[in-house]
Amino acid sequence: MTAYDIIDHTSDVVVVGAGGAGLRATLGMSIAGLKTACVTKVFPTRSHTVAAQGGIGAALGNMAEDTWQWHMFDTVKGSDWLGDQDAIEYMCREAIPAVYELEHFGVPFSRTEDGRVYQRPFGGHMRNFGEAPVQRACAAADRTGHAILHTLYQQSLKHSAQFFVEYFATDLLMDENGVCRGVLAWNLADGSMHRFRAHTIILATGGYGRAYFSCTSAHTCTGDGNGMVLRAGLPVQDHEFIQFHPTGIYGAGCLITEGARGEGGYLTNAAGERFMERYAPTAKDLASRDVVSRAMTVEIREGRGVGEHKDHIYLHLEHLGADVLYRQLPGITETVKVFSGVDATRAPCPVLPTVHYNMGGIPTNHHGEVLRPTPEAPDAVCPGLMAIGECACVSVHGANRLGTNSLLDIVVFGRAAALRASQLLRPGTPHEPLVAAVTDRALARFDRLRHASGKTPTAVIRLRMQRTMQSEAAVFRTAASLQKGCAQMAEVAAGIAELGLADHSMIWNSDLVEAFELENLMACALTAIVGAEARHESRGAHAREDYPERDDRNWLKHTLAWIGDRWAVTLGYRPVHMKPLTVDTIAPKARVY
Ligand code: FUM
Repeated sequence: MTAYDIIDHTSDVVVVGAGGAGLRATLGMSIAGLKTACVTKVFPTRSHTVAAQGGIGAALGNMAEDTWQWHMFDTVKGSDWLGDQDAIEYMCREAIPAVYELEHFGVPFSRTEDGRVYQRPFGGHMRNFGEAPVQRACAAADRTGHAILHTLYQQSLKHSAQFFVEYFATDLLMDENGVCRGVLAWNLADGSMHRFRAHTIILATGGYGRAYFSCTSAHTCTGDGNGMVLRAGLPVQDHEFIQFHPTGIYGAGCLITEGARGEGGYLTNAAGERFMERYAPTAKDLASRDVVSRAMTVEIREGRGVGEHKDHIYLHLEHLGADVLYRQLPGITETVKVFSGVDATRAPCPVLPTVHYNMGGIPTNHHGEVLRPTPEAPDAVCPGLMAIGECACVSVHGANRLGTNSLLDIVVFGRAAALRASQLLRPGTPHEPLVAAVTDRALARFDRLRHASGKTPTAVIRLRMQRTMQSEAAVFRTAASLQKGCAQMAEVAAGIAELGLADHSMIWNSDLVEAFELENLMACALTAIVGAEARHESRGAHAREDYPERDDRNWLKHTLAWIGDRWAVTLGYRPVHMKPLTVDTIAPKARVY
């Protein structure tokens, strides 16, 4: 393959993605003296972490007594027991030093009267193993992700990390022994092609929310790392578990933080009833997200939705008063005004459950190392490859993530990956030669997409995919909807053979970027819907009307999914880690709030 001149870069580590996870890893490795290149398709502070609002979970106990063991219990319960308990223990213990570390890095947290980090209640976070809500979400008003992202970027610059901004990573460079040796990337600004060699490649590319028509995710959340891993012949894990956030703005999809209910907001139906009291008598509006989203969906289905079409629900904040809203929820107050035309200090906000987060992703251990599981060795590691943040499945979120645990996940496991890489690597170790065929394979795919000359535009195929996922893999699922969805998705994916680009240039060709993103999203969507069809139980965010109960005897296991030729999906399974690192197993039981 000679048509492309390649510019080579070598470093100890390459991080793909500059959201919170990518930046925390980049920072940690720069501090450890490892030469680190961070390759990102958007400017770092435009990464989707910037949109995280309500807080980062940690049992600091600033507002009332709290312990990491309670946090761990809530996270295992929230995960509906699909989370790996070793990773969950690690995350909840490390949460406390991780937040203090952020504070010392300079994150401008909101403060209590006596100057400590302010904490608010969030769904599913309870005191004393489920007794009553606890204030555990450490908040910077309703812009916590923004504050963390900017701080981590500034710290990374201070420690001389090297950034390659607006470079699109297309494929991993895997050698003939299955070792990851680097990544191929395209510089969007000048059209040049780059080969980044490193001893460890860390994927931190975020989620695949844009596989759906309506989601809170940025348009850049296109499952790029998951797509690369699947093309490298590695599996993804638990892709069928997709979180619907209860309060997306009706019609627009933008997030209204759960922190709004943490500050005292509540939901009502057409009768003005606070219906969550019926579904979750203890936690009420602060039950876990899957529980609240299902309750809202039932209310709407049974004719108790609000508005002209009775197709949404009201979130009340007006009773909190303008003072509280402008101080604690300024971003929300503005977003509600802009996107629904409502003055939240005076009237209720129209909301609807909206796709928000992917619990599944690239399987890793709690050091961030990517797994290449086999039946004999379910925890075997793929050399040279790590994944962190939403693209990864550690798995700390299992079947349903608790709010605030995503910001926590990115900083704890971003840091863990940096620690692991600095244990494994010696700075400046030379790179072994890479056979030309490895880069040629990646270039051949680049060339195929760049010259795609069929009749169907990217946007048409993407919309078909998004509509299929939206209607057939929704809050509630049945065999009929999922089987229809699988068949439809197979057809939509086959349509990629007919893809045609309007522009074949290499410079700022957003049409080509979207084609790469579409292939990544397609791989994510297919593995999600096929995994969902096969899982005959209800667990966390996967609610099957035909299998309404959780089935621990048959389904207490992680789904693995591979993509083969012509988008064929193969499934396998691996055990959940039920044993924590130092404490006793939290045994499965009924999940009530
Ligand atoms: O509701 C929110 O502020 C979202 C937080 C999260 O997803 O953790």
